[in-house]
Amino acid sequence: MQQIKKDFPIFKRTINGKPLVYLDNASTTQKPIVMLKVLENFYFTSNANIHRGIYTLSEEATDKYEAVRKKAAKFIGARTEEEIIFTKNTTEAINCVRVSWGEKNIKKGDEIVVSSLEHHANLVPWQELAKSKQAALKIIPLTNDYTLDAEAYKKLLSPKTKLVCLTVESNVTGTIVPVKQMTALAHAVGAKVMIDGAQSVGHIPTDVHNLNCDFFAFSAHKMLGPTGVGVLYVKQSLMEEMAPFMYGGEMVESVKATSATYRSGPWKFEAGTPNIAGVIAFGAAIDYLSNIGFKKIMAHEQELLAYAKKMLAKYPQVKIFSPSQKHAGGIISFAISGVHPHDIATIFNNEGIAIRSGLHCAEPLMNYLGVYGTARMSFYIYNTKKDIDTAEKALKKVLKTFKL
Ligand SMILES: Cc1ncc(COP(=O)(O)O)c(C=O)c1O
Repeated sequence: MQQIKKDFPIFKRTINGKPLVYLDNASTTQKPIVMLKVLENFYFTSNANIHRGIYTLSEEATDKYEAVRKKAAKFIGARTEEEIIFTKNTTEAINCVRVSWGEKNIKKGDEIVVSSLEHHANLVPWQELAKSKQAALKIIPLTNDYTLDAEAYKKLLSPKTKLVCLTVESNVTGTIVPVKQMTALAHAVGAKVMIDGAQSVGHIPTDVHNLNCDFFAFSAHKMLGPTGVGVLYVKQSLMEEMAPFMYGGEMVESVKATSATYRSGPWKFEAGTPNIAGVIAFGAAIDYLSNIGFKKIMAHEQELLAYAKKMLAKYPQVKIFSPSQKHAGGIISFAISGVHPHDIATIFNNEGIAIRSGLHCAEPLMNYLGVYGTARMSFYIYNTKKDIDTAEKALKKVLKTFKL
């Protein structure tokens, strides 16, 4: 893992005269040169639109694009590539479920259950759907260990529950949610399950078939891929009954002057020209991660997390928002009483360190935790213990500046 940083050209940069230490991987990850080369090469040598042309360039582009659908399906354990819809990100994928499945299936008096760990992307769409359908939104509370309260969840479920929305890993606390067991409980009352894998797919193995969820969303940019590419997995048995998400070119079978019929499978949901180069480059990111393997990735992140926790715990002024290690991924939030998280991030930035500060698109969770924001370090394959040592130096500067 020590060699990996060399694969990422951005680490040649300095920030404020210091080598870049990038600890904002939950927001987006950095990009390996192999992925960037595929992206560049597509435009230099292979650019053409897909699914339309019968000339060589277009056919090649179509083949490469569709090959990544297969690759993504395999990577997350889908049974077939026909369960994989390309979107622009996790947010769009979740909104596709809201429109294409939710509009038809959520009715007055129904209940949607969401966890209190959700990012706005897996919360606000359901607030809106519930409001427009006069359905109720129920929230699964947290335990004192920042995990979801399993007993409270069971009590929330009833035949009225039509949809349960869960993240695999919280982007604030790093909590890993037992989504498989929770999915089985939701199915037992007849509900469908929407899983947000934005924080997990690049960090822990995913097997949607084994998980048995109905919908699963994630973003390429949080797993070494380019921005502008997301994936929505939909269980095959549900896809045909879902209405198109957007209308226009590419998703149609036949169009008459006043009506149209639509393609089946994922293509029904991919109207217009997609992010062709991005999807193809995403394939290179999947290959890069597969070559390293999740065993190494997870061990590395766990080691960094334990090291960072130990470092932060040395300072009683610092409050850590993180579950016990067995429930946690490589994300850790902290706050210092009397210091705004943006001030912490600014002082870290002076030392060349990128951390995220604020609400992390999880404002209800911040209210729940009783803070107006946190500072957050999130780790990935190229981070080292030395990065955390640098963070400790910055932390000491914060405490000194605020005379704490
Ligand atoms: C848990 C979680 N869900 C969803 C999202 C939204 O991802 P995107 O902005 O790529 O749509 C994020 C982004 O931080 C996230 O952390």
